[in-house]
Amino acid sequence: MMETTDSNRNLLSVEEIDTYIGQFHILEGVSVDVAKGSITVLLGRNGAGKTTTLKTIMGLTPPRNGRVIFDGQEIQGKQAFKIANFGIGYVPENRAVFRALTVMENLKLAERKKGDLDRHADFIFELFPDLERLSKLKGNHLSGGQQQMLAVARALVPDNKLLLIDEPSEGLAPILIQQMMEAIRKLRETTTILLVEQNFIMASQLAERYVIIDDGKSVHRGLMSDLVQNQDLIHQYLGASIQAPISTSEVQ
Ligand SMILES: Nc1ncnc2c1ncn2[C@@H]1O[C@H](COP(=O)(O)OP(=O)(O)OP(=O)(O)O)[C@@H](O)[C@H]1O
Ligand SMILES: [Mg+2]
Repeated sequence: MMETTDSNRNLLSVEEIDTYIGQFHILEGVSVDVAKGSITVLLGRNGAGKTTTLKTIMGLTPPRNGRVIFDGQEIQGKQAFKIANFGIGYVPENRAVFRALTVMENLKLAERKKGDLDRHADFIFELFPDLERLSKLKGNHLSGGQQQMLAVARALVPDNKLLLIDEPSEGLAPILIQQMMEAIRKLRETTTILLVEQNFIMASQLAERYVIIDDGKSVHRGLMSDLVQNQDLIHQYLGASIQAPISTSEVQ
């Protein structure tokens, strides 16, 4: 299959970014394209630089070199809250929910504009029915899986054009992985997603395209349908991170 080079079709283009954390050169020329209305997944071993790539896009670890183009404009170097306001939702890997606040309060706090939650509540609760049932419960009474759903739900409260979701299946029981996959699949109908997901089964079933990050560099990209047939590539770069199939993955 031919690679598309038409940058107009990309909602997000990350071009050759270099990111330092302290004196450490963590990302060395990472490039990632995300086409509008698609799911692209970042794959790679532990410590490869997947999370840092998402943080760099969000302006949390700004790049020293390179460009991040979102919806036609350069956003690298802007402050994180401004980048979010352009319409990028970020779900970090550590389930950032307020544990002392209820589910509803957590959602309310995620508003960017007045009325965001009212406008999107039906959609959110349709995706995650458990959250409606538990809406009065505090974050610290939710299971790990429910917190993960709440973390994703918070990114759906404001109008976002792009969602960056870091390891949504991590630590989830198989049944919840299925629910999360279903929710992300439905989300694709209305938004564009850049996903980090080490569960290869989940990644391969959700994403149309992949980018492999290895040792701070983007080393391969293409169609997921090609990657699933390329055992050599999977073994070379993902060998250590391919998890057991969903049915036998760890129960949280
Ligand atoms: N605050 C920090 N200070 C120093 N090094 C860091 C810091 N944060 C991340 N790193 C290093 O940057 C590299 C990339 O980390 P990153 O979290 O982006 O990897 P990752 O691909 O998301 O890994 P994982 O699959 O474990 O989540 C790692 O070598 C990590 O040790
Ligand atoms: Mg990570």
